[in-house]
Amino acid sequence: MVKFRLKKLLQRYRMIDFKKFEKYSKPGPRYTSYPTAPEFNTNFTEVDLINRYKNQSSDRALSLYIHIPFCRSACYFCGCNVIFTSKEDKKTKYIEYLKKELAILATHLNTKRMVTQMHFGGGTPTFLSPEQLDDVITTIKQIFPNFDNDAEISCEVDPRYFTAEHMEVLKKGGANRLSFGVQDIDPKVQETIHRIQPFETTKNVVKIARDAGINSINIDLIYGLPYQTKETFRKTIEQIITLNPDRLAVFNYAHVPWMMKTQRKFDETTFAPPATKLEILKDTIKFFTLNGYNMVGMDHFAKPDDELFMAIKKGELHRNFQGYTTKGGADLIGIGLTSIGDGVDYYVQNFKDLETYELALDNGHLPVFKGYSLSDDDILRQYVIMELMSNFALDIKKVEDKFGINFREYFTDALEMLKEFEDADLIKVNDSKIEVSSTGEMLIRNISMPFDAYLHKIPEDKRRFSKTI
Ligand SMILES: C[S@@+](CC[C@H](N)C(=O)[O-])C[C@H]1O[C@@H](n2cnc3c(N)ncnc32)[C@H](O)[C@@H]1O
Ligand code: SF4
Repeated sequence: MVKFRLKKLLQRYRMIDFKKFEKYSKPGPRYTSYPTAPEFNTNFTEVDLINRYKNQSSDRALSLYIHIPFCRSACYFCGCNVIFTSKEDKKTKYIEYLKKELAILATHLNTKRMVTQMHFGGGTPTFLSPEQLDDVITTIKQIFPNFDNDAEISCEVDPRYFTAEHMEVLKKGGANRLSFGVQDIDPKVQETIHRIQPFETTKNVVKIARDAGINSINIDLIYGLPYQTKETFRKTIEQIITLNPDRLAVFNYAHVPWMMKTQRKFDETTFAPPATKLEILKDTIKFFTLNGYNMVGMDHFAKPDDELFMAIKKGELHRNFQGYTTKGGADLIGIGLTSIGDGVDYYVQNFKDLETYELALDNGHLPVFKGYSLSDDDILRQYVIMELMSNFALDIKKVEDKFGINFREYFTDALEMLKEFEDADLIKVNDSKIEVSSTGEMLIRNISMPFDAYLHKIPEDKRRFSKTI
């Protein structure tokens, strides 16, 4: 294992001709779920969800995701579910409905179960005023009274909308992790993406968080944005590292202009070609590795003593809608517009438009829009894909024992499709494991795709996903 890691590290620094991998730049899922969100459908209803809630063991922990959809203005690259507003009454009304949802939820779900994780995402949760945020957190804690002492309580923060008062409220609510959106520091890139955020702004909010005793700070960056080059992105990461974040998320820009109108504002000729994007990614991995961070999954970096990295060593890293997490084995409850929940054998998503969401709640219903009931085959493939996406390896024997299958027979087609990756030295396959090389890690979405039973039913030119590179 040590030998393999060393080999991987050496591979990482060798010259690679990325041109030959350009053919892998094709639409593909990011696998924050399997089956992926386009498979969710309205056959899964509120009744199905309530039945699941009734049958869940009271020993299973809960993970709460609360979606606050509001932002002040559009960042043109954004792929999140956002409502742009500056109106106070919209936010006040939304909070009223969040409370309604929580009250209805409490009639179906055992809310006395232990909460091990709570995450505020968006949009921009800190675009709520400190008082509003306090109101939401207080209500949640009344409804879910049992938070684990070690519960991970986190919030996504836009540094342009964050004050010491927000920090105070979050700290009082038990927050121990903050994630700051930065994306890029280069002025031309910032202007093009419609997000002017001076480095000083980020530096100040990181100080506010550190002064409040937050010792897990994440910073989000994106590569693949207009006008980015290897050189400009290097400058961004050199500046960001001076803030000493504990974790970094370096996302591949997901360009989905058919879904996100503002992305159509970009001139696509200003995007770096796939080979350059791989160069940027390789340079980023090299830079953070040399500066004491370890790569976690396909787009995260963490310090060696961070529990995210330790979880890899213990084989306990999991992937979900928020990315990578150490807290597996909990049922995720999505609260708020568009939020997604999941359990052992289902996914569920709330309504995406405010009116329908409010109407459902006014009528005393959970605002279930759609979902998915997982079959045994889905659960097996989900395990395989999430292992590859999280640990860049698959213990074939473990899969055979866990699911009672003969791996080679069950996945004959997938193994056949993986041959081209084997021939390109991106993976190694034997009877007991699949191991991904360090160059293969950059193409992990492609390497996971052969195990996706739904993807192959869609012709390649009809796949509505962002490109893998
Ligand atoms: C909800 S936002 C974070 C909080 C806050 N709204 C902000 O922007 O600072 C979540 C993160 O998703 C990432 N993101 C948004 N759109 C993306 C896209 N099209 N491709 C890749 N990453 C994206 C950004 O890095 C962003 O920081
Ligand atoms: S990146 Fe963050 S601030 Fe920008 S539009 Fe998206 S959710 Fe809002």
